[in-house]
Amino acid sequence: MAVVIDGKQIATSYRETLKERVSALRARGIVPKLKVVLIGDDPASHSYVRGKERAAAEIGIDSQVLRFDASISERELLELIDSMNDDSDLHGILVQLPLPKHIDENRVIMRISPEKDVDGFHPENVGKMMLGLETLLPCTPHGILHLAKMQTDLVGKHVVVVGRSQIVGKPVGMLFLNESATVTYCHSKTKDLGAMTRQADILIVAVGRAGLVTKDMVKPGAVVIDVGVNRVENRLVGDVDYEPVKEVASAITPVPGGVGPMTITMLMHNTVEVASRG
Ligand code: GUN
Repeated sequence: MAVVIDGKQIATSYRETLKERVSALRARGIVPKLKVVLIGDDPASHSYVRGKERAAAEIGIDSQVLRFDASISERELLELIDSMNDDSDLHGILVQLPLPKHIDENRVIMRISPEKDVDGFHPENVGKMMLGLETLLPCTPHGILHLAKMQTDLVGKHVVVVGRSQIVGKPVGMLFLNESATVTYCHSKTKDLGAMTRQADILIVAVGRAGLVTKDMVKPGAVVIDVGVNRVENRLVGDVDYEPVKEVASAITPVPGGVGPMTITMLMHNTVEVASRG
C-alpha cells in the first residue's frame, strides 16, 4: 500500500520557513509584494486566486488582486503590466490564465518583466531553466520536484511525464532532466501509453482527464504524482485512478491535497526570492 504524499502538510512546513524569511526582510524594511491580475469570471481561476491571497496573507506577503471584466482590451492589460513593471516597490506580477480569447496570452506573458515573473513563464526564465541556470522556476513543476525529492533520489530514475503543456508537462520534464533523471514525455498522440507508463520509477500525470491512468499502467513500487484536477459528480479527482493505483505504487499524491498546495507555496517562494534580491 502506497504512502500518501501529504502535499498540504509539506506545503505548510515549507511556508513556515518562508514566514521567517519574510520577517527578516520586513525587519530590513522590505515588504514582499505580489499583484495578481484576474480577468473574467472563470470559477476555477477565482478559486485558485483566493488560495494565493490566503497563502500570501499567512506568510506576510503583501498581495493585491486586480479584478477586471472579460471585456478589458489587450492594450489596457499591457499598459497595466508596464506600470507594474515600473513600480519599484512591487516584486511579483502574476496574470491568472486562461485569458479571454481576444487577448494574446503569449504577448501578455512576454510583457511581464522577467525579474518579476513569479510564474516563471517568460521565455527568458524558461530558457534559463532549460540551461540549468538559477532563475524563477514555474510553480507547479517546482512543487512537484520538491515532493519527488522527498520520496526518492532522482539520479538515473526513469521519469515518465504524461502531458506536454507549457505550464506543467514540458517544464517538469526539464527540471527532472537537470537532476540527472531519464525523462520520457508522453501525450495524446503517444502509442500504447501503458507500455510507457509501466516503465516509470516516477510517473507524473498532468493531462486533465479523470481515470486516465489505471492500476495496470503503473509499475509496482512507482512514485505517482497526479497533477490533474477534474470535477466529477461535484467531487475533485485527479487523472489517476487513485484507490486501485494506491495498491501498487510506493507513494502517491492525493487530489486535492497533493500538488495543489505546493504550487501556491512555490509562488510565495518566488515572490520572496525576488524581494530578497534587493
Ligand atoms: N492557470 C492555471 N494555472 C496557472 C498558473 O500556474 N499560473 C497562472 N498565471 N495561471 C494559471
